[in-house]
Amino acid sequence: MIPDSFKQDLLNRVDIVDVVGKYVQLKKAGANYSGLCPFHDEKTPSFTVSPAKQFYHCFGCQKHGNAIGFLMDYGGMGYVDAVKELAATVGMQVPAWQPRTPEEAKRQERETDLAALMHQAMEFYRAQLKHAPRAIEYLKRRGLSGETAARFGVGYAPDDWQGLKAAFPDYDNAALVECGLVIEGEGKRYDRFRDRVMFPIFNRRDVVVGFGGRVLGEGEPKYLNSPETPLFQKGQEIYGLGHARDAMREAGRALVVEGYMDVLALAQHGLRYAVATLGTATTPVHVTRLLRELREPGAELVFCFDGDAAGRKAAWRALEVCLPLATDTNPIRFLLLPEGEDPDTLVRAHGRQDVERRIADAQTLSSYLLGELRAQADLANAEGRSRFLVAAKALVQRLNAPVLRMQVVRAIAPLAQVTPEDVERLFAPLEGAARARTAPPARTRAPLAASTAEQGLLRCVLADPSLARGLADELLDESAPETAALRSLAAEVAADNAPSPGMLLERFRGGAHELLVHRAQAAVLESQLDAESAAHEFTQLQIALRIRHKHREIEALKDRVGRDSALNAELNLRIKELHQLKGQRS
Ligand code: UTP
Ligand code: MN
Repeated sequence: MIPDSFKQDLLNRVDIVDVVGKYVQLKKAGANYSGLCPFHDEKTPSFTVSPAKQFYHCFGCQKHGNAIGFLMDYGGMGYVDAVKELAATVGMQVPAWQPRTPEEAKRQERETDLAALMHQAMEFYRAQLKHAPRAIEYLKRRGLSGETAARFGVGYAPDDWQGLKAAFPDYDNAALVECGLVIEGEGKRYDRFRDRVMFPIFNRRDVVVGFGGRVLGEGEPKYLNSPETPLFQKGQEIYGLGHARDAMREAGRALVVEGYMDVLALAQHGLRYAVATLGTATTPVHVTRLLRELREPGAELVFCFDGDAAGRKAAWRALEVCLPLATDTNPIRFLLLPEGEDPDTLVRAHGRQDVERRIADAQTLSSYLLGELRAQADLANAEGRSRFLVAAKALVQRLNAPVLRMQVVRAIAPLAQVTPEDVERLFAPLEGAARARTAPPARTRAPLAASTAEQGLLRCVLADPSLARGLADELLDESAPETAALRSLAAEVAADNAPSPGMLLERFRGGAHELLVHRAQAAVLESQLDAESAAHEFTQLQIALRIRHKHREIEALKDRVGRDSALNAELNLRIKELHQLKGQRS
């Protein structure tokens, strides 16, 4: 466990704009920066980074976090690694190990429990395969040997709505739903996977975290996958990595293919350094993790895609993801297969040598980049060459590897009929100074648009945490979801003179209020609520709380009043107070 004081210090020293800006091209937009969201596919930017609040938020996919969270989500790092990496960028050293908090311990225990269930399920499916002649026949027809199937833990989920009952006598256990094996609907429980060939998905510690289940033959969906669970995030896992690791080191190469069956067929034919993404587009997490596995200088990362239009699009997207992550020492290459072929069919028809010959001829990242750029512009005239330069600029600016970048710049210069120095000048990255120079446009603030007083108060307190000191705690509605979050925020603020918004995110990480706090921060960002307006809103909302309280008092009195004249006088007094309060509103 890392002490809070260290995290606070760290978050004060780093600038999230620098951290994110390394990977995402950001443009100044008012008080914030915006760019294309790295977490989902989009054409218009909805990803926003707030330098004042030190967090990012995507209005498209709702991803949200501080600098530490960004490295975790984007770089696929664990919490401690993300803190270490961030600390290294500002020359800080993470203090020595401290005991885990009770919450951390609890979460880890929970994950261990779920992993045990997943393991038990895998063993069950494997055993079932032995008694499933149809599934065995299907795998044989696809050329898979029993040895390969066993090596990858392939199994079979029986054609039975509650087949897992045989493996789990306590079939009602909520954890079976939590780990995605069992579905609960209208009071009934049933197995998610039925009559499917099961491919277990292992995480980096070789723990089963999910399954891909294929129909035997035709049917929809072809593959059914585990849902996202506390153990399993689809965009973060790499299929077959544990099996491929040694061969990757030996061959000095990792091959990324698209399907489970591709990995298995290649391995069976002796090409054991292949892994697959899980039906998602290439993510930065994939690239970061694979490059880290390769380590040795010269070891290469090769992406393999179908040659059809969808495959070419996926390849280009993978290139874009690779740009900021590429290094000077480990080449990244792209292999487009002939249309209608995949590595499974190719290796079965022509053998491993054929696939390896294709890999040897695969395009490097730089040649793929330049080739595509050249294809899009006519270099025979000045207009075409300038279009070429503009398109190249957006991509080359994202390259972080200095030597590779220089090579690419030198290759671009003669094509555009300019000097490499001209290119460098044109492609110069945004400087910190340039950022500061652009004045923010006049602010037009959207209304807070909160649907309850508690929701509004939470937003105000996030815009200016010091407001929490004046919170009328006793007037908060106990049933409002924000109430508990507001109270714990107030406690944070009382304990610490000035927690930064980035640090507040840190305090709520993994806790019950995390999502509420994220949403409220996003709303603050969207409405561009500043401290001054927040203070005003805060006062108004507290008056609204008092009015609500007064209404409730009056309703309670009316119930009791009857003909009791003393009570009647009190009732009239409350109503008068109510009108006074209403007069305070602006
Ligand atoms: P492919 O359609 O290329 O499947 O999807 P494949 O691996 O070649 O399958 P076979 O050879 O027909 O058995 C590639 C990957 O996309 C994901 C799976 O991870 C699959 O391996 N996918 C595909 C799904 O998750 N669901 C689907 O319905 C299809
Ligand atoms: Mn296939």
